[in-house]
Amino acid sequence: MDFSLADTIERRQADQYALYARHINPALARVLPIIGFDKVWARGEGAYLWDMDGERYLDLIAGYSVYNLGRDHPVVRAALEEALALQRPNMVEMDAPLLAGLLAEELVKRMPPGLDIAFFGNDGSDAVDTALKFARGATGRPRVLYLEHAFHGVMLGTLSCNGGDQFRKGFGPLMPGFDAVPVGDLDVLQWELRRSDVAALVVEPIQGKGVYVPADDYLPEAQRLCRDNGTVFVCDEVQVGMGRTGRFLACEHWGLEPDMVTLAKSLGGGFMPIGALLMRKRLYDKVFNRLDRCQVHTTTFGENELAMAAGLATLAVMDEEKLVERAAATGERLLAGLAALQGRHQMIADVRGKGLMIGLEFRPPKALTLKAAWAAAEAAQKGLFAQLVVMSLMRDHHILTQVGGPDVNIIKLLPPLTIGDEEVDAIVAAFDEVMTEAERVRGRVWRQSGHLIKQALSQ
Ligand SMILES: Cc1ncc(COP(=O)(O)O)c(C=O)c1O
Repeated sequence: MDFSLADTIERRQADQYALYARHINPALARVLPIIGFDKVWARGEGAYLWDMDGERYLDLIAGYSVYNLGRDHPVVRAALEEALALQRPNMVEMDAPLLAGLLAEELVKRMPPGLDIAFFGNDGSDAVDTALKFARGATGRPRVLYLEHAFHGVMLGTLSCNGGDQFRKGFGPLMPGFDAVPVGDLDVLQWELRRSDVAALVVEPIQGKGVYVPADDYLPEAQRLCRDNGTVFVCDEVQVGMGRTGRFLACEHWGLEPDMVTLAKSLGGGFMPIGALLMRKRLYDKVFNRLDRCQVHTTTFGENELAMAAGLATLAVMDEEKLVERAAATGERLLAGLAALQGRHQMIADVRGKGLMIGLEFRPPKALTLKAAWAAAEAAQKGLFAQLVVMSLMRDHHILTQVGGPDVNIIKLLPPLTIGDEEVDAIVAAFDEVMTEAERVRGRVWRQSGHLIKQALSQ
């Protein structure tokens, strides 16, 4: 039988958006043209995407932090081609696969002390879900605490510890015993933990939705309170791990030693879906406590050869290219460049982040004419100004960015860790121009707002 992927793509390319609208996500298919993201992408390499007309775009979404190595990294691609060429038996299931053992060994080396056991899954949600399930299993306690604004996924388990009403609304009842605590409030946390019924506290060391960085004492104290009260302290590093913040794990910024760490996204090198939970052996032992329970928690594709090969190659590339150190240095330059804009553009309220995870928060303008435009936009939809900036960056500067969460005027930047001075300069210059333009009520930024407001109001 003949099957050619290239022929299929060529034959059906023109149907791309119609197919998506008919069979996958009609709502997203409608949104993309409204915000100017209805491109037909032809190619991706490093930090860039090219459309069918050969136009180049700088990608600061990076697959929500899947492309820490950049797109199409040749070393990871070669490892996958080699894995296929070797024709090794994959997913025998009743087996102890070598590559899974090797990847676990490499990850354990990069963890805080004591996290000796790895469980491999398919994505971030299943890594977090596994963490919570194991915490319950190991402690025999029912409750889970999470932080306001948290994002740990949208499956039923992880949705139950999702701090965004937008995501939760309409899907209840969610898991009983899952409760939010305010970020930074150690008294509330202590009060909850003292009830001695909390299996786990799960935190993103830097919150992805909004790029909120906690006060320096918060996470170390939260960890201590968990220790004192027999609660498993889980750091969800799905987005912030793998070098994103200038450390291999973001929790290293505060010298944390969590009981569990989750990873996913860029561990697959931008090619393979993967999730990983690293945990203390004593927690594992409590769950897998008898030989007949050796498969009490499993997932079919978890240790598959291609994902494991991609993970091993990814870690090797990170070492070779010193990506963690590069993210720290480049991130510092980018943060400083953007922070300098704050002095010149009154609508930039804050520039924050660590390494190459950066958030820019906007605030209402002072000028009367602009104030009215801002108010109309906000009345139609919260966070609409940030969307206008995203649209301008895309249209006028060919830079892909994202609004940093539901209902917030925050833009989040997650560039590949491989970017250099050229990209830093381009990003800062683009923001400078867009924010200058945003100070003119009849300028290109606000001109897009009428259409967007109409769409928002028509919903
Ligand atoms: C911190 C965090 N945890 C978990 C998840 C869920 O990961 P996935 O989308 O791979 O299921 C995400 C996704 O963005 C995340 O940012």
